[in-house]
Amino acid sequence: MKATWLDQGTALSTQELLANDVYYERLATQPDSYQAPLDQLKGERGYIQQDEVALSPETPNIDAICAKFVDEHLHDDDEVRFVLEGEGIFDIRSRDDRYMRVVVEPGDLIVVPAHRHHRFMLTETQTIRCVRLFKDASGWVPRYRDAHG
Ligand SMILES: [Fe+2]
Repeated sequence: MKATWLDQGTALSTQELLANDVYYERLATQPDSYQAPLDQLKGERGYIQQDEVALSPETPNIDAICAKFVDEHLHDDDEVRFVLEGEGIFDIRSRDDRYMRVVVEPGDLIVVPAHRHHRFMLTETQTIRCVRLFKDASGWVPRYRDAHG
């Protein structure tokens, strides 16, 4: 994981992310290793569903899928991702509305809090595979930021 303030390019610590309500943890990527910590997170935070999502250049409609998340949006549920393969870029608004850029790679668990604006992009490899946790799948529908808001 590499986290920086997007406007200044300066480094962001996991403590600073947490102070801005973004939870980060590093876990091993073997299922035997990560399932227990994920189960603990589910218990603590009330997530009840788990699935896996994979994107690659071979994914049908990859550009359309990526286009859904590149514009700034939020969700009514937390966005919980544990990266198993590939990489991705989250730009998440801080409490004072600055972008925090978090580049995730295998072993990174990140929680974008509900009702916090953010956007997501793949890197040049266009490849990521993640475990997702949800309180309720219906809460994870993008709501786009008003361009004038
Ligand atoms: Fe999102």
